[in-house]
Amino acid sequence: MTQDSYLETLVQYYDEEIEGEAYFETLANLTADPTQKEALSLLAQVEHHAAKGVAPLLVKHSLTPGDAAALRASGHKDAAGSWAGWDELLDDMDSTYSGYLDDFRALEALGPSEDQPILAFLSEHEVAAIAFLEKARSDLNAAMTPLRNYLASPAPVAR
Ligand SMILES: [Fe+2]
Repeated sequence: MTQDSYLETLVQYYDEEIEGEAYFETLANLTADPTQKEALSLLAQVEHHAAKGVAPLLVKHSLTPGDAAALRASGHKDAAGSWAGWDELLDDMDSTYSGYLDDFRALEALGPSEDQPILAFLSEHEVAAIAFLEKARSDLNAAMTPLRNYLASPAPVAR
């Protein structure tokens, strides 16, 4: 793997968090259940918190993110087209999230040592989402705790 692929992947994952924030915001609007709405809104905030933490690395490496309005529109569209109910959403998350975490860990492995704290912060948002998912079916209120904990964790400063 080259430095180019590190930087390309970094900006791609940043963009996907912007998209993800809009995706969860739309899902939060689509469910009528207040607890599900709260959980989806927290997931949107987690995406936002992760993206905001990574943003200084884009500046540091002179990377240009995708157009935020277009990314948000894409996230809204994905959510509107895929919403089939709560259980289906959890099943979809089950089938994809561990793969996402592998992808974030692979990005950590590509990055220079100075970027490691922020890359780990990015991976941690997926760890929090997986911890949410593990409890979401049995106790949705308790499942939100790892999301709140992540939101309470400050992003590392870029070096
Ligand atoms: Fe994410």
